[in-house]
Amino acid sequence: MSDASAIEPSTRYFRPEAFTADEALSAEERERLRGRIRELLHERDAVLVAHYYTDAELQRLADETGGCVADSLEMARFGADHPATTLAVAGVRFMGETAKVLTPDKRVIMPDLEATCSLDVGCPPDTFAAFCDQYPERTVVVYANTSAAVKARADWVVTSSIAVDVVRYLHERGEPILWAPDKYLGDYIRRQTGADMVLWDGSCIVHEAFRGVELAALRREHPAAKVLVHPESPAPVIEQADAVGSTSQLIRAVTELDAETFIVATDAGIFHKMHEAAPGKTLLKAPTAGRSATCRSCAHCPWMALNGLRSLATALEAGAPEVHVDPETAVAARRSVGRMLDFAAQRAEQVLGEGDA
Ligand code: 13P
Ligand code: SF4
Repeated sequence: MSDASAIEPSTRYFRPEAFTADEALSAEERERLRGRIRELLHERDAVLVAHYYTDAELQRLADETGGCVADSLEMARFGADHPATTLAVAGVRFMGETAKVLTPDKRVIMPDLEATCSLDVGCPPDTFAAFCDQYPERTVVVYANTSAAVKARADWVVTSSIAVDVVRYLHERGEPILWAPDKYLGDYIRRQTGADMVLWDGSCIVHEAFRGVELAALRREHPAAKVLVHPESPAPVIEQADAVGSTSQLIRAVTELDAETFIVATDAGIFHKMHEAAPGKTLLKAPTAGRSATCRSCAHCPWMALNGLRSLATALEAGAPEVHVDPETAVAARRSVGRMLDFAAQRAEQVLGEGDA
């Protein structure tokens, strides 16, 4: 099983300077960097693909320059379909790697290759391969938040927006499943589908911090509020949700659910798009540490925070750091990621067909 010693030292989790890198910039410097990034995107035939958890400035730039701001499934699809020869991926490393796996001929750059993810770090390829070897009869399904090498060992890759559907499909075919790395998401999927699943013991340090007891207390203060939860959260938090889903599904829920106030259990970066989608609604952060702490909710991914205006401009200027994936690993990973994309395309066609009927 994943052993704690395999997880790199906690210094990788906290790089205080990363949180202040862009905060120190003056308004003039920000404006200059925004202008330079626009120019460089054009000059380098590059498109900006950003995740919802990145800084609002980057999300705005992606939107304004014809890029995209999306969840990890849509980021993969957008990058693969877009004609630009360079993809500038603002997010965490697995997102850049997935882009490279799907489009090996494109240059994929990121503001900072140190931007990893606790799920990825906590699932080293060798230990994972040994775990898989213990269960040769199981279909291996891994979450997108993993390295290309782990994806290469998997039969299927899924993101949170499609994980339940894929596992339900496999379960209906009678396939027992080995799931990695997020134990909370795995447990949620198991409860939703009734599938036979063996779970790897990994977690997201951001979502794991949400507290069920504190959430219940906040709900008592706001009895009309609806609760939106990303399924990387622990079960006592998920159990109180009015909507559970990927980042894009949660943004949609803010517009579709009949409520004026929402308590949101996911990374605070998502508030930018939620405010944009539903400007009149009140959004509250779900509690993490609780009342006794100085910070009532500290839900922001320390690796997503490595993406800033300055680091993006530098990366575009230099054409580096560039994401590389060993070609053999990429071929194997492309198979499991491709299965997910094909499955998602078929599902979308089915939904369209049902709409026409
Ligand atoms: P989404 O696929 O829902 O965007 O999630 C990615 C992620 O890293 C959540 O922590
Ligand atoms: Fe990984 Fe969690 Fe950060 Fe998402 S929020 S990238 S799962 S550490």
